[in-house]
Amino acid sequence: MIADYRELARVIDSLTASETDEVALMATVACEVHHADDRFDWTGFYRVTEPGLLKIGPYQGGHGCLAIPFSRGVCGAAARSGEIQIVPDVEAFDGHIACAASTRSEIVLPVRGRDGRLIGVFDIDSDQPDAFGPADAEGLAAILASVFGRI
Ligand code: SME
Repeated sequence: MIADYRELARVIDSLTASETDEVALMATVACEVHHADDRFDWTGFYRVTEPGLLKIGPYQGGHGCLAIPFSRGVCGAAARSGEIQIVPDVEAFDGHIACAASTRSEIVLPVRGRDGRLIGVFDIDSDQPDAFGPADAEGLAAILASVFGRI
């Protein structure tokens, strides 16, 4: 099963429409996205809790590292640069943080609030190599903008 991002966005929007709590929104997005696609083996958020530091937020899958500095990993690169990171082969990414040995590829998107502030990052890991492409980046970015762009 491959995610239908248009349908997923519709479901997530209807579930979250009247909610403004960051963690409630993150938990709902992580759950809905994770179960929408067989490629997704770990799906969740890291939150900016102090300058230069990400802490684990709501997620689905095996346990994730608790803290990631902006200087490290794919999540750190997304937070630092503000750009979506698509890593087709995690072994070829210098500084990748392996939370699960089974992870082969990943995508990480910055998450921004209404005023453009960086709330955190959204990370999806896959056990399949080269699992993510531009359609995923576009579909996921639209969902994040719709949910978090209003809080
Ligand atoms: N792979 C990420 C770390 C987070 S976990 O895999 C859940 C990274 O390099 O930033």
